[in-house]
Amino acid sequence: MNKALVFAFVALFALASAYPKDRNGKFIIDPSKHDYIAPGPNDVRAPCPALNTLANHGHLPRNGKNITKTDLIYGLFNGLNVGRDIGFILAEGAFKKFDNPAVLDLEMLQKHNAIEHDASMTRNDNALGDSTVVNATLLDALIASSADGKVLNWRDMVAHRLRRQADSVERNPTFVWNEAQKEAAAGEVAIFQLVFGSWWSGVEIATADSILRHERFPDGWKPHEGTVLLADVLPLTALVRLKI
Ligand code: HEM
Repeated sequence: MNKALVFAFVALFALASAYPKDRNGKFIIDPSKHDYIAPGPNDVRAPCPALNTLANHGHLPRNGKNITKTDLIYGLFNGLNVGRDIGFILAEGAFKKFDNPAVLDLEMLQKHNAIEHDASMTRNDNALGDSTVVNATLLDALIASSADGKVLNWRDMVAHRLRRQADSVERNPTFVWNEAQKEAAAGEVAIFQLVFGSWWSGVEIATADSILRHERFPDGWKPHEGTVLLADVLPLTALVRLKI
């Protein structure tokens, strides 16, 4: 797509970003319609804990299939209050990796080195095991990286990430870690902090565990009232990128 058009869309979405509320200021999204339901045998999932959580709560098709760009943008917005500016960029980028199909199935995102990358925080490297589902040992190590035992902040995540990268260098002869992977890995840390906690105080361990282990919102969890925008995520992604 033409770059000027992309910028125009991003600006439009950023300006229009506000979590959907009715005239009394109440959230339009009815949580009772978004209970957790575990995926069934014919449902498919991605290597992304956030997208899987959205599917498990019906903010994306529960079967994980036939997802349009609009589904993705509004799933992120309605379920996580991730701005449509971010949603647009991520959806465009993801669909482009697969030659712009009309719809995506979440399992397509498992394709190695498309978006899925090595040295994940909670998944094995593709060459060393299953890179699509959570490895409980890796997740336990991530949680154990919490310096205060109460929250997982971006520094804790970076510390764990650096150990993961060192492990891949040592054990994975096919390890790929170029700019695209580093940028994606940094973005995952930044957006996870902003959506599920805060940059300054981190993500509560119970919340991190619920999302990353069970791909489920903790009981009573609500997205932040303020929409997470590209302008929030980009500088923090750049900061994390400097450390990894
Ligand atoms: C269109 C939107 C998105 C797409 C297509 C996407 C896709 C992916 C993919 C393919 C991975 C696997 C990377 C790997 O190999 O480690 C991943 C990981 C991850 N994603 Fe997403 N994602 C999206 C949005 C989000 C959002 C909104 C969040 C947070 C709120 C998020 C949080 C994460 C985290 C924390 C990981 C790292 C998991 C790990 O390293 O074990 N993603 N995502």
